[in-house]
Amino acid sequence: MTSVTNLPTQFDVVVIGSGAAGLYAALSLPGHLRVGLVTKAKLRTGSSKWAQGGIAAAIAPMDSPELHLQDTLVAGAGLCDPLAVDFLVNNARTAIDHLVEMGVAFDRKDGALAMTLEAAHSRPRVLHSADTTGKAIVMTLIEQVVARPNIHLVAQAFALQLRRDEAGRCQGVSVLYENKIQWINAGAIILATGGGGQIFAQTTNPTVSTGDGVALAWRMGAQLRDLEFFQFHPTALTVPGAPRFLISEAVRGEGAHLLGLKGDRFAFDYHPDGELAPRDVVSRAIFNYLADNADDPANANVYLDLSVIPEEKIRRRFPNIIRMCAEWGVDIFSEPIPIAPAAHYWMGGIVTDTDCQTSIPGLYAIGETSSTGVHGANRLASNSLLECLVFAAQLAELQPKNPESLPKKTVLQIEKSNTAQEFEQLQIIREQLPKLLWQSAGICREQAVLDEAIAQVADWQTQIKELHITQLIQVNPEQIIQFSDPNTETHIRLYAETQNLVDVAHLILKSAAWRTESRGGHYRTDHRETLPEWQTHTLIEGETFRRSPLIVDGEKG
Ligand code: FAD
Ligand code: SIN
Repeated sequence: MTSVTNLPTQFDVVVIGSGAAGLYAALSLPGHLRVGLVTKAKLRTGSSKWAQGGIAAAIAPMDSPELHLQDTLVAGAGLCDPLAVDFLVNNARTAIDHLVEMGVAFDRKDGALAMTLEAAHSRPRVLHSADTTGKAIVMTLIEQVVARPNIHLVAQAFALQLRRDEAGRCQGVSVLYENKIQWINAGAIILATGGGGQIFAQTTNPTVSTGDGVALAWRMGAQLRDLEFFQFHPTALTVPGAPRFLISEAVRGEGAHLLGLKGDRFAFDYHPDGELAPRDVVSRAIFNYLADNADDPANANVYLDLSVIPEEKIRRRFPNIIRMCAEWGVDIFSEPIPIAPAAHYWMGGIVTDTDCQTSIPGLYAIGETSSTGVHGANRLASNSLLECLVFAAQLAELQPKNPESLPKKTVLQIEKSNTAQEFEQLQIIREQLPKLLWQSAGICREQAVLDEAIAQVADWQTQIKELHITQLIQVNPEQIIQFSDPNTETHIRLYAETQNLVDVAHLILKSAAWRTESRGGHYRTDHRETLPEWQTHTLIEGETFRRSPLIVDGEKG
């Protein structure tokens, strides 16, 4: 890997994002291709490094890909694409073998790979490396990427916009890098920009998860699917001032109990599987329990009690959770952990086939930003890291077109960018939007609240369109724009993330208002039933929302 200082004007392939999906894609691409790995923060920033519970793979003797397929389809509540799931579960062994070969140190028991149980899995099939599985995978992938001379890292570079040629093919991305904006051309552009948890006030996701890939793809006209389906994880640390640090489901898998305000194991009042019921069920159970029992439900929490798990096991399996809780004043050996649900995983995304191809030629998507069809309306725990790897591996077959060469660029120096005066207005939207979305499109949704939020977001979209920065960042492909004021980059970054969040909020709210039933991660208090006539996908192109044909018994009808 080389680190880029002066941005090249073209690569054979540009990969945007350096989580598990982007790193594995860069490694899987044929070695003769010149690959630009563009990422908006440090190389190791993203949800992947934060993954705790592990990676699902049906490779134990008592397990089978068929059982994994069944569990995934059941969790997906009628909206999985069975062929995509079949592809996922049957390629799991190859992905795991490759990770082990590259040096990922999964935990072992009696020499064999150790497996844990997570909610809605019928077998213990989640491989782990203590409670920092994501870090173990990402650090190994980074070691491999660093050793590859064809991969050129462009870190702290923000992908702003995509561009199509006259034939409709995606061929360029504009990038904000070192206080400059310029276009990079490529024969293929791969979006691996992760999820969008930052759309909600309470989230387990890192700050980079602002739905950028979905917003960029939407603005270029790509087909999107099922954006209303967001998974809320039941157990995020809830201590005043602390981020919503995830307390892995594996903790419940190892036996921890959910306790209510009076020490009651209330989860069984909502589902026979209690704390190991599907995630959406447990999150809603906590939400409803607090609504009925707490004085201030919006700021209340329940508890996760680990006292039933042997201390030695807690120390071995959850060292990072012990450390993070201690940092926020919770000693998990002597007291239960205060927890509440938080936005965690976005099932919807950019439609792709099993070759990661989107509806736009030349544009590919992988990882959480994509909608491959494997998660349906609700993701089975620990299937997402697996999806990143299995689908990214498909890029080994990619044959990108030759990138169109750009004429020699002229540098346009902008002395006064005048972006500072718009900074405050953007900050207000950036602060208010996640609160609005948490209230309107969070765990429980209803029409009147969604409609109000849609109107507010439309107002923000108009405000953003009218900003001076909107014009400023429209860069001609033959130019490089260089800003003299060192603060301009910070202002444009805030602008770009806010614009992406506002666009994505618009799409999530409209999708949630459109689907008048409850299913998987989407729950409507005014339409509580799951309805057969809604066993369809929500498909979006531009402002057109439509349903896919009815899906019958897991097949496309
Ligand atoms: P990410 O890892 O989020 O990477 C996205 C990358 O894109 C980042 O490098 C980011 O900086 C970059 N980027 C974004 N926008 C831009 C832009 N505009 N320009 C340039 N770069 C950009 N899943 C499991 O299967 N098992 C687990 O145990 C598990 N635990 C989890 C725990 C936590 C706390 C969280 C938040 C998620 C967990 N998940 C788990 C989900 C899983 O981690 C993610 O779905 C998966 O890692 C997503 O990988 P990704 O590569 O698509 O995105
Ligand atoms: C967890 O460890 O609970 C998260 C697992 C996942 O999101 O797949």
